[in-house]
Amino acid sequence: MSRVFNFSAGPAMLPEAVLKQAADEMLDWHGSGSSIMEMSHRGKEFVSVAAEAEQDLRDLMNIPDNYKVLFLQGGATAQFTAVPMNLLRGKTTADYINTGAWSKKAIAEAKRFCDVNVAASSEAQNFSTVPDVSEWNLNPDAAYVHYTPNETIGGVEFDFIPDTGDVPLVADMSSTILSRPIDVSRFGVIYAGAQKNIGPAGVAVVIVRDDLIGELDPRSPGAYDYAKQADADSMLNTPPTYSWYLAGLVFKWLKAQGGLEKMGEINRAKAAKLYSVIDELDFYANPVEPRYRSWMNVPFTLANDELDKLFLEESAKLGLTTLKGHRSVGGMRASIYNAMPAEGVDALIQFMRDFAQKHGE
Ligand SMILES: Cc1ncc(COP(=O)(O)O)c(C=O)c1O
Repeated sequence: MSRVFNFSAGPAMLPEAVLKQAADEMLDWHGSGSSIMEMSHRGKEFVSVAAEAEQDLRDLMNIPDNYKVLFLQGGATAQFTAVPMNLLRGKTTADYINTGAWSKKAIAEAKRFCDVNVAASSEAQNFSTVPDVSEWNLNPDAAYVHYTPNETIGGVEFDFIPDTGDVPLVADMSSTILSRPIDVSRFGVIYAGAQKNIGPAGVAVVIVRDDLIGELDPRSPGAYDYAKQADADSMLNTPPTYSWYLAGLVFKWLKAQGGLEKMGEINRAKAAKLYSVIDELDFYANPVEPRYRSWMNVPFTLANDELDKLFLEESAKLGLTTLKGHRSVGGMRASIYNAMPAEGVDALIQFMRDFAQKHGE
């Protein structure tokens, strides 16, 4: 059986080398006679796996020492809640930037805890851009500013880190973390669900500056408390051990590829190739302002949407799968995270050219 090129937005492809290693280690992890899944999270084997994963992530992202790194359950969605719980710290308002479907979900959840000031929104532009910074209405008394650096559904990605002065910046990096180097010191909190660029679903990574934690509302659930989780090395309760272990293998794979500088070059090149065919052929269109086009999620439409079904059927026959766009926007979406090889993007481009030639004007 040969593996397909899976363009899913998440759970997404994992590096084949990682899957092979996990398969090799499945029944007998490092001569222990047991799989890592069957071990106590408090035993020395798993504790060493967990610590190594954290260290590798710190190395890859160059995370400063005054940041805690947490591996938590509940996905990025739980962090929509955990962020206001942990970061309001007695304040009653937070700023949110609205650039698409995931921003909106984060906003809806924060509204349960505080006054949300939507400081800028691109909804009037149908989320095809990032609002111009000169028009942002940031509140200097906000507890934090939240934004979504990459909107997985709309395919809109910030090409800059917003400057929020002394107000902590919070980023939902679910679909762009580890795609290139970033300056972690510019952020108060970075969080991300794993199932795109980190590993399998089931774990979320939270990177939080240590002066921001420890003032959670005492009525809030302990599992959401960054300070308690940091004190317990993310093992306040049983962590998602297998997802954490696999994330660790992905981090080692990323290091072996040359780290995030290298991944950034590869990702930039993969995305540029795909957008250039979309722009070149009248048959395809992408609505996003070119500066803000995502390197990770590339939505596109066909000139005639009656051909969508055929496009999906024929691409799947060639092993190019899960190209259907999100139900809210239609069309197609190719998610091309770290584990999507350049050959996968090349194969998609070839298919798109052939399809356009056959079915275009
Ligand atoms: C940007 C973004 N934020 C949040 C989520 C929700 O993540 P989870 O399903 O891990 O809760 C997703 C999932 O696709 C996402 O793309």
